[in-house]
Amino acid sequence: MTFSFERKWWKECSVYQVWPASFCDSNGDGIGDLKGIESKLEHIKSLSTDLVWISPCFSSPQVDMGYDVSDYKNVHPAYGTLQDLEDLLAAAKSKGIEVILDLVLNHCSEQHAWFQESKSSLDNPKRNWFHWQKGTTDEKTGEKLPPNNWEGIFKGRAWEYDETTDEWYLHLFLPQQPDFNWENPEVREAMFDICRFWLDRGCSGFRLDACQFLSKPVGYSDAPIVDPSQYLQPVVKHVAHGPRIHEYLQELHEKVLSKYEHAYTVGETAGSNEPEILLKYIRPERKELDTVFNFELAEIDGSHEDYVKPRSWKLSEFKQITSKWQRAMIESGAWNAIYLENHDQARSISRYASDLPEFRSLSGKLLAMHLASLCGTVYVYQGQELGQINVSSDWLIEEFKDVGSKNLFNDHQTKRRAIQGIEDVDMKDVVLALKNKSRDNARTPVQWSDKIHAGHSALPWMRIHDDHKIWNAKTHGEDALSVLNFYRKMFKIRKESELLIYGDYHELDPLNEQIFAYRRDLEGRTALVLLNFSKEVVGYTVPALEGGKSIEGAELLIGNYDVGKSEEIDGEGKVSMRPFEGRILLLQE
Ligand code: NOJ
Repeated sequence: MTFSFERKWWKECSVYQVWPASFCDSNGDGIGDLKGIESKLEHIKSLSTDLVWISPCFSSPQVDMGYDVSDYKNVHPAYGTLQDLEDLLAAAKSKGIEVILDLVLNHCSEQHAWFQESKSSLDNPKRNWFHWQKGTTDEKTGEKLPPNNWEGIFKGRAWEYDETTDEWYLHLFLPQQPDFNWENPEVREAMFDICRFWLDRGCSGFRLDACQFLSKPVGYSDAPIVDPSQYLQPVVKHVAHGPRIHEYLQELHEKVLSKYEHAYTVGETAGSNEPEILLKYIRPERKELDTVFNFELAEIDGSHEDYVKPRSWKLSEFKQITSKWQRAMIESGAWNAIYLENHDQARSISRYASDLPEFRSLSGKLLAMHLASLCGTVYVYQGQELGQINVSSDWLIEEFKDVGSKNLFNDHQTKRRAIQGIEDVDMKDVVLALKNKSRDNARTPVQWSDKIHAGHSALPWMRIHDDHKIWNAKTHGEDALSVLNFYRKMFKIRKESELLIYGDYHELDPLNEQIFAYRRDLEGRTALVLLNFSKEVVGYTVPALEGGKSIEGAELLIGNYDVGKSEEIDGEGKVSMRPFEGRILLLQE
C-alpha cells in the first residue's frame, strides 16, 4: 500500500496558543489584551507558527477565565473591543497567520441573558435551553437533593438548586457555568449562528471547548460508583461522548463548517483513551471535526479530576501512548492534534523532562524536537518556546488563582476536617500537587523581558515567575543557543519539511526506558529521531532499519548539543547520546 495523506492547509500549520490574560498587557491594567496580542504577531511568526488559537476573549464574568461566556458576540472589556478583535484578525491575516477562536458551546455563564431568561420561570421560552430537572427530598432530614450523583468537574455537585422554580440545573463545571441543552434544536441553531458570526469576521475556525459533553446520557443516569465513601461520583467518563454527539457535530459541519473554505476545527475530547471513540469525531468521511485533543499523555502523571496522589510513569509508557495515537491516526487517514502544554496543563519541561538548571535548556529543546517531528498539527503554548517552567517551590496556596486549583484544595480540606474532626489539617501534599500539576503553572505571565513586570505594562494580575530576569524573550532572543532560538530553527525546519509533516511514523525499540527513537518515512526519504529522555549518557545502538537504511553517514538535520555529527556514530551503529540529547538525522539508502 502506498502511504499518503490528503494535503490540507491546516495539516501544514503549527499552532501557537494564546491565553489572553497572561500573554501581553498593552494598556497598563496588568491584564493581557488583544492589542497586546497584535503587538506580538511578529514573535509568533518568528516561530513559524502560522495558526493562532486564542483562548476565550468574549464577554465574561471570568469566574473560569473566560470559559464562562456572557455574550458570544462581544469582547471582554479588559481584553478590548470587538473592533480590536477584528483588527487583530486582519493584522494576523496580513502576516500570513490564521486565527482560530475558542468557542465554549457546552455551557455559558449564568449571567448570559439566555440563562437569566431560562431561570425566570417554568414556562419561559428559554426554559428548555438548559437542563432543568426536579430533585428529590431526603425523607428524614427534609434536605433537598439533586437529581443524581454527578460530581462537578471542579468539585461539588454538578447540579444547582433554584428556589424560584424549585428545580435544579445542570453544570458539569462550575455553578456559574450552566450546560446548554443541545437536544433543543433552537439551541443548536443559536450555536451555529455564533460560529457563522465569527467565521464571517475572518476567523479560520475553532477550538471547541469540552465538546465531548454536548450530548448528555439519556435520563441523566447515575454515574458509576468509583469512590464508595462518597455520594458524589466523577462524571467525565460517564457523560463524555453521549448518544447524539456525532449527530450534532455532523449538523454543525453540514450547516456551517462546510460552507467556509477556511474552517479548521479542533475539539477538546477528554474522557476516553480509545482511538475508535475519538476517531469517530474526525474520520474525514464522517464530516464532523478535523482534529481532536486526546488526554492520554496529559494524564500520564494523574487524572485532572483529582491529582493529589501523583502517578509515577516510565518513558516506555510515554512512548507507548504517543505511538498508539500516531499509528491510530495514520492507519485511519485521520489527523492528530499534538500538544505537550496548554492553559490546563503544567509546564512540559517540568513534567516530562527536567527543569533542573543544568538540564532545563536541553530539555526544552529536546521536547521541541519531539513535538515538531511528530505527525499531526502541532500546538505550542505561550511561554513553552521560552522554556518557562512550573511555579517555584515557595508558592503559598494564596497565590493560586485558578478556581479549579482553589476548589480542589477546599474539597480536600473540607473532607479532611470532617474525617479528622480538627480545623488545622495538614494540606502540604495538596499544595505540592498544585505546584506540580495545577493549571496555574501554565498561567503565569509570559516572560517578555528582564525589566520590571517582565515587560508587561503594569504589575500583572498573577505572580510572575521569579526566574524572568534570566528566562525571558528579550535576553534569549539575543542568545543563539537559547530554547527560543531553537524553537525558531526547529519549527522552520518542520514548516519546510514534507517528510516531518506527512511522513509515516514507526517507533523503534519501544521498551527502552531512556531513548525514544522513531522514524518518519516519505517517498523513500527517512528521518530518524533519537531522543534521550534521561540524565545519563547512553550508548545507543540503533536497531536494524527496514529498507536497508543506515545511520552511517547520516546527515544531522538538527540537534540540541553543539556538535553531534556522524563521526560520533561508531562503526557498529552505536550513538553516544548525552543527557537529554536529541538528534534528527536524515538517513541515506
Ligand atoms: C476546558 C477548558 O480548557 C478549561 O480551561 C475550562 O475550565 C473548561 N473546559 C470549562 O470550560
